[in-house]
Amino acid sequence: MPETMDAWVIREERQGKPINAFQIEQMEVPEPGAMEVIVRVMAAGVNYNNVWAALGEPVSVFRYHAEDHHIGGSDASGIVERVGPGVTRWKPGDEVVIHCNQASYEDPEVHGLDPMAAPSQKIWGYETTWGSFAEYCKVQAQQLLPKPAALTWEEAASYGLTYFTAYRMLVKQTQLQAGQRVLVWGAAGGLGVFALQLCRLAGADAVGVVSSNEKAELCRELGARDTIDRTEFAGMMQPKEPEAPDAVKARKKESRRFCKLVEEKLGGQPDIVFEHVGRATFATSVLAVKPFGAVVTCAATTGYDLEFDVRHLWMRQKRIIGSHFANAYECNRANELIESGAIRPVLWRTLGFDQVAEAHQLMKDNEHLGKIAILVGAESEGLGKTADGPGAIRAEVGA
Ligand SMILES: NC(=O)c1ccc[n+]([C@@H]2O[C@H](COP(=O)([O-])OP(=O)(O)OC[C@H]3O[C@@H](n4cnc5c(N)ncnc54)[C@H](OP(=O)(O)O)[C@@H]3O)[C@@H](O)[C@H]2O)c1
Repeated sequence: MPETMDAWVIREERQGKPINAFQIEQMEVPEPGAMEVIVRVMAAGVNYNNVWAALGEPVSVFRYHAEDHHIGGSDASGIVERVGPGVTRWKPGDEVVIHCNQASYEDPEVHGLDPMAAPSQKIWGYETTWGSFAEYCKVQAQQLLPKPAALTWEEAASYGLTYFTAYRMLVKQTQLQAGQRVLVWGAAGGLGVFALQLCRLAGADAVGVVSSNEKAELCRELGARDTIDRTEFAGMMQPKEPEAPDAVKARKKESRRFCKLVEEKLGGQPDIVFEHVGRATFATSVLAVKPFGAVVTCAATTGYDLEFDVRHLWMRQKRIIGSHFANAYECNRANELIESGAIRPVLWRTLGFDQVAEAHQLMKDNEHLGKIAILVGAESEGLGKTADGPGAIRAEVGA
């Protein structure tokens, strides 16, 4: 192993627009500690978390870890290079994908409750450094999953964080069942493309919310029963600034118009609303979901100070469920569905290692559909596949 490597690094003084915050630097190659593994990264996946890391919002990642640098990247496919003391399940040469949850082996929650409940729980490549936007990354052995053989390096790197999150939200937190109705916000985005596929697989009906015809077409390809273009309901979105009483009234009217359309398209109110947009849509989500139904949320892209009419919640006995990534067992179960081809990665673009900053800027500007992958060690697209299978769905409509 070389002593140094190319890595995309965010530094505290560079936080701001992704296009400027990420820069390539020569960094030391990390050493594996006990139960840790060094993986040679073949491809990496781009996620919104490192848009937040670049911006330094809502909090700087340098408050999460004590290093003076941040190598982001919470998804990867690659080859095990070195294993630290105590690792027995994996050996150099193994082809892997990586899930992004870390927790200390010493926390009792890891051994009886859920690693997601551990005080030490962190998202690798966001709340930690040594992520996948580098030639080598450092992970805990429990983060490794077998690489699905029918996927190329870039396909295998693209799905983990958002798919495993959507899996826990729907399969564990809301116990998605056949015949249920689901409203999916951002349905052509990183989380949404997997929420739609999980609904189809479970025999549930989903309506996806999107902002363009191109995205609507992708959602239908992924099994959505129908879509709604949110640009036709701009007046329903809750702004960050305080509103005048008339504006609140007009916004609530638009929300009701939206909910009526959701009900028409689904043939009833949704049992589940799949949330991650946050302030702009949360009040509408609480209104839309049916009595005793659940709004499940893992994020707040448009703002985390939520406002909604709590009467809709208690009078109709609705539930709000918080969810965050997934535990290793859920990741393994979900990964088996990728291996079998029942759930497929949805890849929009594969970019070169020199385009990590650009990829995050594209994501920040909401230019993408599905997922973006980055070639790191893989010399070109299409490599790494060792078995026949359907591979990824290409998010380019018609491709
Ligand atoms: N807690 C966790 O474990 C976890 C895991 C994964 C992601 N996240 C977070 O979840 C969020 C979404 O992640 P992602 O990977 O799905 O991102 P993404 O690929 O950017 O997709 C998000 C989608 O949200 C929609 N959207 C954006 N602004 C909107 C608005 N004002 N109103 C309604 N819809 C809007 C966009 O779709 P349209 O323009 O088509 O409507 C976009 O495609 C991010 O904040 C991310 O950090 C959290």
